[in-house]
Amino acid sequence: MGDTAKLELDGTAYELPVVVGTEGEHAVDISKLRAQSGYITLDDGYGNTGSCESAITFIDGDAGILRYRGYPIEQLAEKSTFVEAAQLLIWGELPTPAQRDHFSALLAENSAIPSDMLRHFGAFPAHAHPMAIMSGMINALQGHDLPGIHIESDGEFELAAASLLSKVRTIAAAAYKAHKSEPIVWPRYDLGFAENFLHMMFTQPYREHVPSAEAARALNMMLVLHADHEQNCSTSTVRMVASSQANLYASAAAGVCALWGPLHGGANAAVIEMLEEIRASGASVTEYVARVKSKEAGAPKLMGFGHRVYRNFDPRAKIIKKAADDLLDRMHVTDPLLDLARELEAAALADDYFVSRKLYPNVDFYSGIILRALGIPLDMFTVMFAIGRLPGWIANWKEMYDNPAQRIYRPRQIYVGSGQRDWVPSEER
Ligand code: ACO
Repeated sequence: MGDTAKLELDGTAYELPVVVGTEGEHAVDISKLRAQSGYITLDDGYGNTGSCESAITFIDGDAGILRYRGYPIEQLAEKSTFVEAAQLLIWGELPTPAQRDHFSALLAENSAIPSDMLRHFGAFPAHAHPMAIMSGMINALQGHDLPGIHIESDGEFELAAASLLSKVRTIAAAAYKAHKSEPIVWPRYDLGFAENFLHMMFTQPYREHVPSAEAARALNMMLVLHADHEQNCSTSTVRMVASSQANLYASAAAGVCALWGPLHGGANAAVIEMLEEIRASGASVTEYVARVKSKEAGAPKLMGFGHRVYRNFDPRAKIIKKAADDLLDRMHVTDPLLDLARELEAAALADDYFVSRKLYPNVDFYSGIILRALGIPLDMFTVMFAIGRLPGWIANWKEMYDNPAQRIYRPRQIYVGSGQRDWVPSEER
């Protein structure tokens, strides 16, 4: 392919620049097409649209490759801590020991929620979903963290990033405690990121919870696997909001809302609900798969299957499936839902409906099994995803903030509504 692509419209030829990424991906730059020809491109659901150039995360969906800043996810899942992966995503390089210690200290110093924010938890109704609490509290936090609405310097950004990462974890645990009408537990200075979360979730006034090394390791790995995934729905939302120069907190709160839906982060809870429903109904896996394939009105989707980008396998799902096996073995836990999940996966992978559509298990298919083994309740599953995805949202926000040429995101549309008509008085309608 050359440097330009040619497009002919109404007998006029247009030359469009071809952009080539680091890994050889090609894109036709159509940003000037409308100005030159009056045409826009139409791509409902953005399946074929690159919304930005980004140096953060690379995915090759056909080959099942995921890399953060060039580092393969398999290496990071095995060797990195979540905090290190977050620093890598946000600042572009693996931290030196001094940078790691500095940031860990910032996380520890910024882990507690300001005491006057605690009363907000009581203002949510008892049945409020933790994702609603999470997005509301992130916006509330902005007022505490920033002297003005906007971040004005690199130092202010670093503090805001540390505060968000650390406090979102504290808010998540506190939302759970508030929901259970139990006293909120303060973070501890001496615990790592994952241990601290488990401590705040499960400590009771009468019993300190000391998380096991296995539990902390599994949670750390889960968080690393979720930390970024290029221009997915929630990250695109964060970038959309950030493009109006909204601050980091407002952008991250919007990301939480986008993540909540069952087609995105909400799928991890939906998978467990699906498995429980199959078990309770007594239906066989074959019967359930047949219902999915029927596509009749009300037929379910196979939750945790399929991905817009991965058309071969999701590398995170491979890692997480093995981790679920290992964790349950080490904790001597058996979970009938894991057996059912394996059976469902095998049935789907042997079925032409799924094979021909290139539908494979995604990260959510097995992540719920790990979360259950850790004792995390179902309505906290998507919150766990949000804690994990935050570094990616922050990194994407920073990438835009650092780009002086950044413009507001403003897609166009093809209008298909009625033509002009005149207003009619109500008695004549
Ligand atoms: N179960 C049954 N059929 C499916 C599924 C599924 N999980 N996913 C896709 N299909 C079918 C579609 O109905 C479509 O069939 P058709 O060609 O007969 O019309 C075909 O496969 C192609 O699917 P699309 O809808 O084009 O896939 P798209 O890229 O738009 O959606 C998505 C991707 C949302 C992930 C979809 O696969 C899905 O809904 N999966 C279940 C929810 C889920 O697990 N979400 C988590 C995604 S990963 C993440 O966010 C962490």
